[in-house]
Amino acid sequence: HTAELQSRFDARIDAQGKIEPQDWMPEAYRKTLVRQISQHAHSEIVGMLPEGNWISRAPSLKRKAILLAKVQDEGGHGLYLYSAAETLGTSRDQMLDALHSGKAKYSSIFNYPTLTWADVGVIGWLVDGAAIMNQVPICRCSYGPYARAMIRICKEESFHQRQGFESLMTLMKGTPAQREMVQDAVNRWWWPVLAMFGPPDADSPNSAQGMRWGIKRISNDELRQKFVDATVPQAQILGVTLPDPELQWNEERQQHAFGAIDWDDFWAVVNGNGPCNKERLATRVKAHEDGRWVREAALAHARKQRSRAMK
Ligand code: 3HC
Repeated sequence: HTAELQSRFDARIDAQGKIEPQDWMPEAYRKTLVRQISQHAHSEIVGMLPEGNWISRAPSLKRKAILLAKVQDEGGHGLYLYSAAETLGTSRDQMLDALHSGKAKYSSIFNYPTLTWADVGVIGWLVDGAAIMNQVPICRCSYGPYARAMIRICKEESFHQRQGFESLMTLMKGTPAQREMVQDAVNRWWWPVLAMFGPPDADSPNSAQGMRWGIKRISNDELRQKFVDATVPQAQILGVTLPDPELQWNEERQQHAFGAIDWDDFWAVVNGNGPCNKERLATRVKAHEDGRWVREAALAHARKQRSRAMK
């Protein structure tokens, strides 16, 4: 009987169909989706911290309002994605325990410090730019709830990227010190953003199966290349140089060649030894502990409501 279910599942995947929560699915398909969607949600929630650090220091009310809206969006993306993961049978508590215990991953890119105001613009321009590259193909993911969550999230992500680029344009029209602040931020973020797309395809244990199941539509290296090719002209408009002496256009390949990424640094960050990993996780654990009373009150209220309804 399982063989029949498996072949029906395979046929649906091969026909680019959607798998819905109530459909039969191989346990390994369910497991890898819980892994990816929960870690994607963790990335959104932890991602609020680096830029949230600048909400109280934004240089104007306009910039503060924009940044507030962006950080709030990231929080919403996280809750959206936790809900998508819950349709696969995992619970919010299980996912948060995995994050807080260091068992679950979240995007490496959020383990770097935001040292100046220009970092906020560079995060919008480069990090959200990379996130869009990575998230648009997931709108075509075979798992329905994840694909649908991505459509809404990608719309908001475009605003994030545009506001970042616009704020950098303003700084680049400012004083030499402001221009230098932007260039310094680009120098610090460029390589970690390229690594954020994930390890090279040859070192990516989940990619082959992810592609077979229609979860991953474009490979890590291909998305990374697309991002470099799209970002080089933007850097020229901005007037910043990208910190890679080997970056150059290759006419016959119609794409940019670029230098080697430091994968040892990437894996050190992924394995918890980046500049801010401990601080980011401690901040999340503290927020969760401090919020315990709210969860308990909400549950007590819900129990009271239920018992009233039963009378
Ligand atoms: N940071 C941390 N871990 C990473 C990583 C990164 N940048 N890139 C890869 N890894 C991990 C993978 O999770 C996997 O570990 P696991 O098996 O324990 O989960 C391991 O490294 C090997 O990588 P693979 O390429 O084999 O793994 P995947 O096939 O899952 O590809 C991925 C990795 C491209 C990140 C994929 O999981 C994915 O597309 N995830 C959804 C998108 C996502 O999470 N994006 C995070 C960006 S942040 C963001 O979107 C917020 C925005 O608002 C800025």
